Amino acid sequence: MADHNSPPITQTSSWSTWRWGVLLSAVVLSLLVVHFDTFDAVPYPSDELTKNKPEFVLPRSNPRVLHGSESIGDGQLLGPEDMVCDPKSGVIYTSCVDGWIKRLTVNRSSVEDWVNTGGRPLGLALASSGQLYVADAYKGILKITEEGEIEVLTDEAEGVKFKTTDGVAVAKTGVLYFTDASWKYDLHNFILDILEGRPYGRFMSYDPSTKETKVIARDIYYANGVEMSPNQDFVIFCETVMLRCKRYYIQGEKAGSIDVFIDRLPGMPDNIRYDGEGHYWIAIPTELTFEWDCARKYPYIRKFLAFLDKYFRRPSMERNAGAVVVDLDGKPIARYYDPELTFVTTAIKIREHLYLGSLIKSSIICLNLTRYPATAPSSTK
Ligand SMILES: *[C@@H]1O[C@H](CO)[C@@H](O)[C@H](O)[C@H]1NC(C)=O
Ligand SMILES: *[C@@H]1O[C@H](CO)[C@@H](O)[C@H](O)[C@H]1NC(C)=O
Repeated sequence: MADHNSPPITQTSSWSTWRWGVLLSAVVLSLLVVHFDTFDAVPYPSDELTKNKPEFVLPRSNPRVLHGSESIGDGQLLGPEDMVCDPKSGVIYTSCVDGWIKRLTVNRSSVEDWVNTGGRPLGLALASSGQLYVADAYKGILKITEEGEIEVLTDEAEGVKFKTTDGVAVAKTGVLYFTDASWKYDLHNFILDILEGRPYGRFMSYDPSTKETKVIARDIYYANGVEMSPNQDFVIFCETVMLRCKRYYIQGEKAGSIDVFIDRLPGMPDNIRYDGEGHYWIAIPTELTFEWDCARKYPYIRKFLAFLDKYFRRPSMERNAGAVVVDLDGKPIARYYDPELTFVTTAIKIREHLYLGSLIKSSIICLNLTRYPATAPSSTK
């Protein structure tokens, strides 16, 4: 070999020595972590991760929802996790991280501080009679009257307190359906619940006429958003970590049973909202990225991430947040998302606009769907 080849070879070998060094240190560090950290991550049920399920195919999408979108209530709406719109008045209620339920009108003339729960309101449901029901992560299920009076309806079931009261829906009968995402971890530590891999979620009901709280389903992998079907025959609840939504039948032959409404969503579902026009809008805080896919498959990676989360900082693994639209049978219709978005937690459609709320943003995103619709992939592909 000619002499002039030598320098590059030397460089390559020192580069590879450096790489091996980093790799070796990482392995040693990881072994120490496994040895000393008490966090116990377990495998997810393998059949859930591997069994052959139909592919989730979305006929239409808008992969750039931030393009053309507006932001509403900048700096005034901190972490607007859920939203609900009163169709009569056009008022949107949203649940913020500072404890405020804020109100704004559809035409966005103003943002109003309405009621502060003193906790962290998440899921919202509006009864036709006017009162607002709130799943407050720290306080339980609250009723807020039109005058703004707060009452705690329930905060435990079967002697186990809720730790992250998360989603709520109200049936026409007045019965509330709601979730506690985890009886082990509070909202600040939700990521640890997901990383641990054990199902601590419960789906429940509360009947105001008897004041009884009933556990309908337990052992749910992060029980999240809840929504009624338009004709009140079933309730849907999201199981975030399993990328699916389940359906609990209230009426008909199947009353009392639960099946899977949608499976293999492109990401982890959060809140689910019915738009009054035949479609459910399911918020997706992150798609199933390569990083999350690995973490789901390998408990060891989750243990390592929990270690980083507790003592340093967890690397960002979230991307392409947004919403998935499905019809009343769970058939996929469209997806709205953006690579720059993370932790979108609710999506509601009001007339021609899509509103997105988020756990981390300090505003609501609003997109004109007539102008920026989801489109089919071009047929020239
Ligand atoms: C905004 O909407 C509210 C309620 O629908 C209405 O009372 C108000 O007049 C509207 N304001 C403007 C500027 O359009
Ligand atoms: C939404 O977009 C459509 C189509 O560009 C337009 O006609 C309509 O006025 C827009 N709506 C609003 C409220 O800006």
